[in-house]
Amino acid sequence: MPAKKVNEMAKEPTPRTPQEYEILSGGGAESAELSRQGISRRQLLRRAVGITAGLVGLEAVGGGLIFIYPQITGGFGGKVTLKKLDQYPAALPQNFDIENGKGVFYEGEAKSYIVHLDPNTPWLLSGTDLTNTLDYEYIVKDAKDGSYWLAIYQRCVHLGCKFAFRTDCRSFKCPCHGSHYNVDGEYLSGPAPRSNDRFKIDVSSGSVIVDTSKVYDKVQHPSDTNRLLSELTIQKICD
Ligand code: FES
Repeated sequence: MPAKKVNEMAKEPTPRTPQEYEILSGGGAESAELSRQGISRRQLLRRAVGITAGLVGLEAVGGGLIFIYPQITGGFGGKVTLKKLDQYPAALPQNFDIENGKGVFYEGEAKSYIVHLDPNTPWLLSGTDLTNTLDYEYIVKDAKDGSYWLAIYQRCVHLGCKFAFRTDCRSFKCPCHGSHYNVDGEYLSGPAPRSNDRFKIDVSSGSVIVDTSKVYDKVQHPSDTNRLLSELTIQKICD
């Protein structure tokens, strides 16, 4: 299955104390320190270099630990086990309500929206076309009750803002430049270059498990031949 590794945000360097900054860049604090301790500028610079090397080393080690830590703990970057299935009631698209827990749920640990669609969801496709498109879009059919599950990455595919689910227009809307996505993450309008990205979701164990180690970013703008859901009337007035 095509997928690409999540790009980690660059880690901010550890802030330096005002003293360290002055020692490295010169200035009043440095002069005062030299005078008070009676040491040479060269000695002080050597210490500063040592401090900087230490900070860089700590950042490198810390970054490495952050990279592997989620794999150990099951946090973001690895497989995240969320709540039992019955904590995510399914709903038809027109009844999605994030405030009252119907059909769509935000899970910060997985940086995802969990979408649970009713077994009677009115898909526009059917038969093999539907099965293939659901597979391609990482939408899982629950073998027990016939409902549908999806984990949508919270990051807007335009420029990376966190988008929200808007119960008032039953759809996802990005606050930055207005990209608009259907309840199943498919693109509706705006500058986003594709539909929302997803994570692999597994519901076979009785709990929702989201694999956040890889983001699936291959769902393009839907066309009339591969669109999964029609746009709700209420979505058309989402501003
Ligand atoms: S970042 Fe979401 S529309 Fe621009």
